[in-house]
Amino acid sequence: MKISLVVACGLKNEIGANNDLLWHLPADMAYFKELTMNHHVLMGRVTYESIPKKFRPLVGRENIVITNNPGFTNENIRAFTTIEAGIEYAKSRNETELFIIGGAKIYEQTLHLANRIYLTKVNEMFPQADAHFPLYNTHDWTLTKSRLQIKSESNNYDLYFEIWDKMKKRF
Ligand SMILES: NC(=O)c1ccc[n+]([C@@H]2O[C@H](COP(=O)([O-])OP(=O)(O)OC[C@H]3O[C@@H](n4cnc5c(N)ncnc54)[C@H](OP(=O)(O)O)[C@@H]3O)[C@@H](O)[C@H]2O)c1
Repeated sequence: MKISLVVACGLKNEIGANNDLLWHLPADMAYFKELTMNHHVLMGRVTYESIPKKFRPLVGRENIVITNNPGFTNENIRAFTTIEAGIEYAKSRNETELFIIGGAKIYEQTLHLANRIYLTKVNEMFPQADAHFPLYNTHDWTLTKSRLQIKSESNNYDLYFEIWDKMKKRF
């Protein structure tokens, strides 16, 4: 099973503030939906609760939520008290590509497991951010694809839709 991280970051790796996103980007939301549809998505409890109630669980996707609270449950999600258990669950369902969708605490603990990062780079800095994507060594990753979408009336920032793949160790 491939493990992919999906994230939108500002120029300083900013991903959120006050348990919310830093932007409203319909183009990125549509991309996120297209990527993750019909797959398992794994997220931290804070990210799950940051999704507006009417949009959660994310439809058409099996929502895996990681929390230390064994009592955290809901008939429409799968909650696990360890990330490993969440990953194993997706594997047991014959998932081909598991999407890890944040937030910062979950990215930090799963970056080393990932084969791919779908990175939407938001061409702006957000000093108010209190959540960041972990720093990663670009020597370990190769840029497979990059597409620029110029800002528009509905998307306030230039966006780079990038795909980074983990380099295979040569020896
Ligand atoms: N820009 C983006 O692409 C993007 C994507 C996702 C999220 N975000 C933003 O990121 C921010 C949230 O990130 P965050 O780091 O605060 O929260 P988070 O990673 O979403 O969730 C953290 C919570 O997950 C649970 N958890 C994490 N690791 C665990 C482990 N090893 N075992 C058991 N439970 C574990 C804990 O839940 P309990 O407290 O219940 O134990 C912890 O409090 C928000 O601002 C959100 O909008 C941005």
